[in-house]
Amino acid sequence: MSFQKVRGFHDLFGEELRKFRHVSNTVREYLKRYNFEEIILPVVEYAQLFERSIGEFTDIVQKEMFVFPDKKGRLLALRPEGTAGAVRAYVENKIYALKPYWKVFYEGPMFRYERPQAGRYRQFHQLGAEVFGILDPIVDAEMINLIYKVVSELKIDAHIEINSIGCRKCRPAYREALVEYLESVSGHLCDVCLERKDKNPLRVLDCKVPTCQQAVYHAPKMVDFLCDECREHYEKLKEYLNMMDVPYVENYNLVRGLDYYTKTVFEIVSQELGITIVAGGRYDYLVEDMGGPPTPAVGFAVGLERVALLVKDLPEEEPLYFIVAFDEVRDYALKVADILRNEGKRVELSYKRGSIKKQLELANKLKADYAVIIGPDEKSEGSITLKDLHTGEQKKVYLSTSL
Ligand code: HAM
Repeated sequence: MSFQKVRGFHDLFGEELRKFRHVSNTVREYLKRYNFEEIILPVVEYAQLFERSIGEFTDIVQKEMFVFPDKKGRLLALRPEGTAGAVRAYVENKIYALKPYWKVFYEGPMFRYERPQAGRYRQFHQLGAEVFGILDPIVDAEMINLIYKVVSELKIDAHIEINSIGCRKCRPAYREALVEYLESVSGHLCDVCLERKDKNPLRVLDCKVPTCQQAVYHAPKMVDFLCDECREHYEKLKEYLNMMDVPYVENYNLVRGLDYYTKTVFEIVSQELGITIVAGGRYDYLVEDMGGPPTPAVGFAVGLERVALLVKDLPEEEPLYFIVAFDEVRDYALKVADILRNEGKRVELSYKRGSIKKQLELANKLKADYAVIIGPDEKSEGSITLKDLHTGEQKKVYLSTSL
């Protein structure tokens, strides 16, 4: 009997995992520079948390959540994203009473029952960051700058799209104007958008079906409906981004697939694959809606697999020292391995016995950089013979001296 992995789930290992870790480490490095602290959030939450925060009529809640009852019949869900859990943690742990504001990040697997394709999985990983408690667009600008720095450092060809989707004051009038417009072009909308038109009309704007894209080309734009506060927020954000030389394009149809957003929304889109690799925005009502005090917030999440897919260069690995030894001095080989590892070196001890030639073949197979050759002479002298496997150069090194 043999088993296969579940569709949409994947094993991460080898080069792919090295790229994945490189992305994660790079994001973490920048989060450290911006003074974010980490939180480890549960993978499972009550399903209602996501229904209430992401929105009842979103694709995630309607079609993509892994929901199951616990033994008492309560509905639980594998988290489809991290923001809802972070908000829950902020409110439940009363962090608002402990800190003037909270800059926090999380990393881990997320689950969405989507149709798997390149860069789209049913279990994927996000590294997300959120700032709770600050309304100033300077934070939106810092978040976008942070992620721009990460993408630039990883040498990924991508562009930043921004938009403002207003607030509860200005969005209703826009929604009305949009629905009216959508009615007038309803003959050109796909079946899904015909439904969205009434339940979640903003989502029609980012439908990928060409006829829908054409139909919304002349749709009213949210930016023309922004109230003074939202307009000023958006203008300031752009001013700050310009100040920091962060390039961006305004995409008036960028609305995001989760209902909690207000004001700023942004995405980083890969030029190479045409997919969104990082996404985020502001959600100024969510904390209050989830039972906390009124608390503005803004955040983003990096899709780690997607970014890893685009990484071309990996940092050089530490050189590998491979110890090959005559049978009778394997005790000394073990000791040498210990000494080298204590110095912080990456060391592999030949587990296979046999001729030195055979062991050296193994060193090449394992892509070692150096062979550390050990025979009776080396043991009696307290030395090793170090062979550079790239150049073939060989020298004797006494263990009191550093390699
Ligand atoms: P999201 O746009 O749903 O936003 O997801 C963020 C990122 O996760 C996407 O840009 C993509 O890179 C990655 N992602 C999403 N679904 C998949 C999938 N099925 N397979 C692989 N990667 C995927 C959020 O989740 C928000 N919580 C972001 C946020 C944080 N907004 C404010 N704070």
